[in-house]
Amino acid sequence: MRTSEKRQQQSVVGQPLDRVDGRLKVTGMARYPAEFPLANLAHAVLVQSTIARGRIREMDTAAAEAAPGVHAVLTHRNAPRLQAGPPNFLGPTAPPPLQDDRISYNGQHVAVVIAETLEQATFAATLVSITYEQETPRVLLDEKLAQSLAPSSVPDVVRGEPDAALAAAAVRVEGTYTTPTEHHNPLAPCATIAVWDGDQLILYDTTQWIDNVRTVMAAMFGLPDAQVRVIAPFVGGAFGSGLRCWPHVALVAMAARRVGRPVKLVLTRAQMYTSVGYRPQTIQHVALGATRDGQLVATIHEGTEPTAMHDDYHEGLVRATPSLYACPHLRTSFRQVRLDVGTPTWMRAPGEAQGIFALETAMDELAYALDLDPVELRVRNDAAVHPQSGQPWSSRGLRECYALGAERFGWERRTRAPGSMRDGQYLVGWGVASALYPYVRIQAAARARLLADGSAIVQTGATDIGTGTSTIMTQIAADALGLPAEHIRCELGDSSLPATPPQGGSNLAASVGSAVHMAASAVLGQVLALVRDDDASPLRGASADVVMVRNGHIALKRDPSQGETYAAILQRHGLREIEAWGRAAPGDEMQRYGTGIFGARFAEVRVDPELGVIRVTRLVSATAAGRILNEKTARSQIIGGTVGGIGMALLEHTVMDANAGRIVNANLAEYLVPVHADIPTIDVLFVDEPDFSLNPIGVKGLGEIGLVGVAPAIANAVYHATGLRMRDLPITLDKLQ
Ligand code: MOS
Repeated sequence: MRTSEKRQQQSVVGQPLDRVDGRLKVTGMARYPAEFPLANLAHAVLVQSTIARGRIREMDTAAAEAAPGVHAVLTHRNAPRLQAGPPNFLGPTAPPPLQDDRISYNGQHVAVVIAETLEQATFAATLVSITYEQETPRVLLDEKLAQSLAPSSVPDVVRGEPDAALAAAAVRVEGTYTTPTEHHNPLAPCATIAVWDGDQLILYDTTQWIDNVRTVMAAMFGLPDAQVRVIAPFVGGAFGSGLRCWPHVALVAMAARRVGRPVKLVLTRAQMYTSVGYRPQTIQHVALGATRDGQLVATIHEGTEPTAMHDDYHEGLVRATPSLYACPHLRTSFRQVRLDVGTPTWMRAPGEAQGIFALETAMDELAYALDLDPVELRVRNDAAVHPQSGQPWSSRGLRECYALGAERFGWERRTRAPGSMRDGQYLVGWGVASALYPYVRIQAAARARLLADGSAIVQTGATDIGTGTSTIMTQIAADALGLPAEHIRCELGDSSLPATPPQGGSNLAASVGSAVHMAASAVLGQVLALVRDDDASPLRGASADVVMVRNGHIALKRDPSQGETYAAILQRHGLREIEAWGRAAPGDEMQRYGTGIFGARFAEVRVDPELGVIRVTRLVSATAAGRILNEKTARSQIIGGTVGGIGMALLEHTVMDANAGRIVNANLAEYLVPVHADIPTIDVLFVDEPDFSLNPIGVKGLGEIGLVGVAPAIANAVYHATGLRMRDLPITLDKLQ
């Protein structure tokens, strides 16, 4: 048995623990931001622009103000002036709303109506009459404009001489790949309740980053951070839409101040398409050059995305490419086109989702050009060290992912020629793709409190957007304190708790998990400090490394009969509780190692050759993400990501009207996401590789990696089934002609 397996058997970490908040959720007791039952609550409804570019010429709010139940109508003419929010390490803050008459996209918030009831506010919002000075908008991505309009802040990455190496390569493939706009559709639409208590602002908000909402709102309203409190104990799903403090949050705070009452706003499903960002469409070129035996010699990956006039969002579209394969000559570049559109934003594996689609489809094309098995091609180009920096990997696990995944899938039974596998009337296709998402860790804080009865509370200001954060934090604390999980309570989702980074970029388990581990370990250290000179204690003088704790009973490792419980120690010392903070920050490991989260995806499709209908019938997802803290929540993360990847491959596609810049399918009837009938059995495999070189808990992160590689594996499977190369997502049946 391997050491890691032994450790996992003895510890709470690694166990497939049920979600500690599962019972609250299924019984309806979990309280989401829209659900706080505040007295005297008024309701806000947004009015949004119907043009994409221009100015508001006239605005008549008299009828709305006179409508039943209406308390106020806020527009740019009567809204308070707000300060700009500060940028953070993810980029700029969205500009504050209602500050002038300028319109920069269709769907921009131009007024907010506050009324006694939601129905009254909804009706009154229809009475606001606006005339515009319209200008002709530009709303569709035109690649030719990329270089002239928006020099990207993302620098090119170059190694060797990619153009010369490509020209000299024995085998070349080259293609243009396009992916559409996709929108966030979490189960719970974003909601905010704002309450002013004098100059104190309390916000219940659908966010992935409590601390950022506090900082931004404090700055916009000119308040010290301490006068803003943000609360979000539960969030009904989020894939990046909660990583920024969006303008509607400021609108609700303005509204609540104006009417002197708590105000609630819940975005409608349609408003989710104009208010909280989206995954930007992409146009990408990939060129690969290789030797006859399948060694990559040149990689060129160029990508273009739109961004808004009024914002500066960008993402790592080509970021993974320099890290994935050993290839001596490479260039990646990223360009953006400014358009009269709402700002794009992060959406589950932002950049990698689309970038890896292009790269891994091109790799499949190369495999066919070489007449080489696509798994074998990838293995031959596996990078022994980080291909850009030359550093050793902290851990990589990609070869293991191919091996595990191929075995589970039965890849060796694949016949190579397109159209060569059939099941009755159906064409069967098997495709593979690699996945890579960066490892991220950010400084974070947590507090652990050991109570007199021997139970403990761990606290962090993180959110749990459904990933299982409170469950894994409970497990980490359980191991560090030697307590059963049921004797630990995890409290989170409140800015009055220790500050943490966003629940985004797959960083939270490593960042906050390390802080919780340190806080809980510090509590044990304090308990041992109490008995250092305590003649009444069998543990007198013991340090943390000579004791073990089981079920709250601390004993000497060399003589387990010598020991006592936390409760006994606290009682003898007259203490009601012991509290310790953990402040965890990354060290220099990112300078010393190449890092990353890796995976391999194997997809089977069945294509009806008469109708062009594609079904994904099997999917094997193998992932190397460091230590798996909880196999059950980890599997859920991968399954959720895989479903997102299937949606990306076959269904999701936001359509915009080219003239008005209006989204025409801002609803779940016409914007398609997978339903249960679209999802096959998903086989989730993990490579067992705890990585303690990266952090004290050996974890990497699972939030995004599950989605990466799924779409190209499916597109490659469609090629294998049909001989039709799919370079444009989603793969709808009209493309199978
Ligand atoms: Mo994710 S895009 O980091 O919520």
